[in-house]
Amino acid sequence: MKTVISTDRVAAVELLRKGGLVALPTETVYGLAADALNSIAVAKIFEAKERPRFDPLIVHLPNREWLRRIAELPAGDRQLILKLADKFWPGPFTMVLPKCELVPNIVTAGLDTVAVRLSAHPVFAEIVGELDEPLAAPSANRFGRVSPTTARHVLDELDGRIPLIVDAGPTEYGIESTIVAIRDSKIAILRRGPITHEQLSEFADIVSVTVTQRISAPGQLPSHYMPTTPLRLIDSAEAFPPQTNRRVGLLAWSGASPSPQAFATVRNLSDRGDLREAAANLFCYLRELDALGLDLIVAERVPSRGLGAAIMDRLERASHR
Ligand code: TXA
Ligand code: MG
Repeated sequence: MKTVISTDRVAAVELLRKGGLVALPTETVYGLAADALNSIAVAKIFEAKERPRFDPLIVHLPNREWLRRIAELPAGDRQLILKLADKFWPGPFTMVLPKCELVPNIVTAGLDTVAVRLSAHPVFAEIVGELDEPLAAPSANRFGRVSPTTARHVLDELDGRIPLIVDAGPTEYGIESTIVAIRDSKIAILRRGPITHEQLSEFADIVSVTVTQRISAPGQLPSHYMPTTPLRLIDSAEAFPPQTNRRVGLLAWSGASPSPQAFATVRNLSDRGDLREAAANLFCYLRELDALGLDLIVAERVPSRGLGAAIMDRLERASHR
């Protein structure tokens, strides 16, 4: 199959309507979309990504009215759910809620909950709105790999496996949406992301998620987001000694000046020390460094406040092997 990169939204809607796959930009990362109510279309997502069937997908709604058709809002949690939706939708925010009958089992991997999100990306919103059906869309990478933040990254991942990638330039946030579960009027953060712990704690108590709850979803496994080059976390590149016979790449944050002999190449996450800019650059730089055939990537830790917690989460997973 030939994979085309284009800006043709009409072709995207047509393909989706016929049960095809289309990679679409969202405000977080590019997603690989299919009609969420068409099980055969959704099965193609798992095939193209080589994703295990036990890993559930996020359902992206055309608008707020669709929420009631896809998810149940338990009476005790309804107010909190609607408040969070008012505040963070459309946006990089996903809620795991009890699922409605309408949602095919393949989407939720047989779970009785469904992850729902409403994307703010104008191109995504236009396409899902025109289709007027929810879209199941995981990140448009092969399973276990770094999420794509440009159309070119999607092509590198899925060339020949999908017919169309809709290009809208690099994504704004660069890391995947925050995922929460709402239980007994409390918020459990299942995946850190652009909507931070600090922001969520204004709405309800945040409960910590146990390891067993986390590994019920493979996106939460420690070794997800793996580049092929080994990656090690350090506090500051200044103290990192030159390695004999090893080509080392640096993913920098601190602005410290390392010894010029220490690194074959350097990517600075943000020259002005801005965590938002760092998040937007993270996956792109990881990909670039990974493509250089280095022996090692070292990444400086970023502060774990605000968005930094989500960045550290990705770096820790990438360094886990
Ligand atoms: O920003 C994003 O969320 C992107 C864009 C494309 O929307 N999507 C994304 O999807 O990151 P994916 O499939 O790569 O990650 C979704 C995560 C997976 O770890 C999956 O296991 C988890 O959400 N998930 C989905 N449904 C769930 C459920 N019912 N309960 C718990 N976890 C769930
Ligand atoms: Mg993913």
